[in-house]
Amino acid sequence: MTETTFAPRIFSGIKPSGGLTLGNYLGAIKRWAGMQGGEWDTTIYCVVDLHAITVWQDPEDLRNGTREVAAGLLASGIDPAQSVLFNQSQVHEHVELAWIFNCVARLGWMNRMTQFKEKAGKNAEKQSLGLYAYPSLMAADILLYHATHVPVGEDQKQHVELTRDIAARFNHDYGTDFFPITEPVIDGPATRVMNLRDGTKKMSKSGESDMERINMTDDADTISRKFKKARTDPAPLPDAFEELEGRAEATNLVDIYAALADITPEEVVAEYAGAGWGQFKPALADLAVEKLSPIAGEMRRLMDDPAEIDRLLAHGAEQARALAAPVLARTYEVVGLVRG
Ligand code: AMP
Ligand code: TRP
Repeated sequence: MTETTFAPRIFSGIKPSGGLTLGNYLGAIKRWAGMQGGEWDTTIYCVVDLHAITVWQDPEDLRNGTREVAAGLLASGIDPAQSVLFNQSQVHEHVELAWIFNCVARLGWMNRMTQFKEKAGKNAEKQSLGLYAYPSLMAADILLYHATHVPVGEDQKQHVELTRDIAARFNHDYGTDFFPITEPVIDGPATRVMNLRDGTKKMSKSGESDMERINMTDDADTISRKFKKARTDPAPLPDAFEELEGRAEATNLVDIYAALADITPEEVVAEYAGAGWGQFKPALADLAVEKLSPIAGEMRRLMDDPAEIDRLLAHGAEQARALAAPVLARTYEVVGLVRG
């Protein structure tokens, strides 16, 4: 068997459930924007609406959420002239490949998925079958484009590993090397942005208090207030980054500053060595407002014209389908499904 080589290609996705947070921006979207026009053959970014409905979504909220996330991506610099940008449900091949992968993935693999366990909690019996099968659909999203690299936050690492297992198992069972073994790309200081009130929990859209997170649509006053009220310990910033060890909340604020300023956490600590929170928090708030306000403004402008967003997504879906259709057709052939 000859080794197939795959063009370096990026795919990543984001759910349109709830608003976008600073965690989404620093852990994913900002990094996606920076990958355009570089060494990659194609960059593909997807609003994964079919993933969102694995938990209940009000239809009107889902429609608005999809447009808002698309607006957030565009406002953050994802350029439809450089990247393929679309919403998942407009490319039916995702679901078809997911079915094939449902027949490749093993129950034992799915049972190890920590995100399902966290989301289902003690109520696993009451969750949708879709929530359980979710990682198989995610594998389909990625492998449908033969994506070689997937930039995500730390919380998605296990799902990308499952994607690798599915590709390897498919290739092995069918005696082919049709699917690439995809690499996660988890880099930079903000791959796990933490909750502002509890440094042991991830910042998320669904946390109970709005003070826990920065939303990308928050105004300047709200951003400042949230950072000023962020939980910290009483000690000032140390002289060296290593001395932040064990100080989860302090580390988180330094990491956020670094990611917003495009510098390393070491450089942040060097600049603010010995500073108290009364000095650092306002500086962080000002930086966040400087970076996020223009994005929020552009999001609002884009949201005023939903028809234009829909048009862009439909155009992206057409481009995506052109890439996806031959991969699905070849997969069906390999599996032995008769095509007329
Ligand atoms: P989701 O909103 O769950 O669809 O996540 C979309 C992307 O944002 C994924 O790549 C996540 O890993 C990333 N992400 C979400 N929350 C965070 C966070 N708190 N820190 C870093 N990355 C995050
Ligand atoms: N599961 C991802 C999340 O919750 C979203 C996602 C769906 C995704 N399909 C993907 C991410 C494919 C990367 C690649 O954040």
